[in-house]
Amino acid sequence: MLNRRRFLKILSGGTIVAIAGAAGFLTTRTPHSALAPWMPKPYHDPRKAALSYAILAPNPHNLQPWLVELVGQDKVRIHRDTDRELPETDPYHRQLYIGLGAFVETMVLAAGALGFDAQVKLLPDGDDGPIAEAVFVPGGASDPLSAQILNRHSNKEPYTEQRLSEEEVSVLENYATLISDEDLVARIRGLTKRAFEIEMRTPPALKESVDLMRIGKAEINANPDGIELRDPMLEMLRLTGLLDNETLMNVDHPGTQSHMRGYFAMLDSTQQYAVITTATNTRSDQLDAGRRLMRFYLKTTEMGLGVHPVSQALQEYPEMADEYALAHELLAPSGYTVQMLLRLGHGPEPIATPRWPLETRILNEA
Ligand SMILES: Cc1cc2nc3c(=O)[nH]c(=O)nc-3n(C[C@H](O)[C@H](O)[C@H](O)COP(=O)(O)O)c2cc1C
Repeated sequence: MLNRRRFLKILSGGTIVAIAGAAGFLTTRTPHSALAPWMPKPYHDPRKAALSYAILAPNPHNLQPWLVELVGQDKVRIHRDTDRELPETDPYHRQLYIGLGAFVETMVLAAGALGFDAQVKLLPDGDDGPIAEAVFVPGGASDPLSAQILNRHSNKEPYTEQRLSEEEVSVLENYATLISDEDLVARIRGLTKRAFEIEMRTPPALKESVDLMRIGKAEINANPDGIELRDPMLEMLRLTGLLDNETLMNVDHPGTQSHMRGYFAMLDSTQQYAVITTATNTRSDQLDAGRRLMRFYLKTTEMGLGVHPVSQALQEYPEMADEYALAHELLAPSGYTVQMLLRLGHGPEPIATPRWPLETRILNEA
């Protein structure tokens, strides 16, 4: 990626200004259609109403790996979309199942707020069939966490030095394991930085991210998923052909180097972490971890805190094996699986990320 200074130099040369043609360009780059799902429509069918919130759940690389079947008048069947996978960085689909668990939890919370009890049965056997079914029964109770679904976003910015108060820590200990010990926090920072660099320097892993990058309004609206880069400067470079995928794959490029420095600084700004572990690592454990993750996100949203998953060290490919082992040594009781490692702190206001409209995620209409 080219850095800002180089970009400005090009800009002052006039070339890009001429191509862009209008000063308004920089101020009209919000991908409104990709963000429209954050303003859910009123649906008559309570299942669709609840699902229109569920599609806002956090999920790896924003792949949105869910598909829903409406069954009869009151049931939904949730499937994993096998066209949406991360074979390099999530070869066993563990992270995808966590995202699916977050989807299920969001659906249940939204149903409760709408006056329905979504009675979930997990169907976690194997990789082929549906992952869960839920029957919508009138009379659910509203959980206060549901009020935060539309406010919840991952906060991928640097955090301030302000640590959580003891009271905040004790509230959040009900949702995840918190790490505040300074020595351990320093070791985890080092781990996340090394793991990030390994991912950057493992071409198939990096390519998986690069292929999912959507740079600028048109690309984001055309494919409202993946890694969205909304910076108008990057969009200009992309439009003028200066930021192709080959450049993004070049780790020694000055732009990529500058991106990495920025990422390290962001990782370095972390004062506390949260961890979600499971004693075993079955599909239902992974779905359950996703449900816990969603509740943790919503509680931190309610408390005005930032949360950012940092998953590189938890990824299961050979180049990451040493960091994966260290992550488990540091973060989990022996034999447990670390499902999520999250930065936690005070950051700037986070932004919403794109979603495919609900209609594209429903397999059929009952
Ligand atoms: C299992 C899982 C792993 C994730 N890992 C990362 C990660 O390593 N780095 C990161 O920046 N975001 C990570 N995320 C956050 C997603 O990128 C984010 O949820 C998605 O882009 C949607 O954005 P939102 O959470 O703001 O709605 C992860 C999310 C999940 C559920």
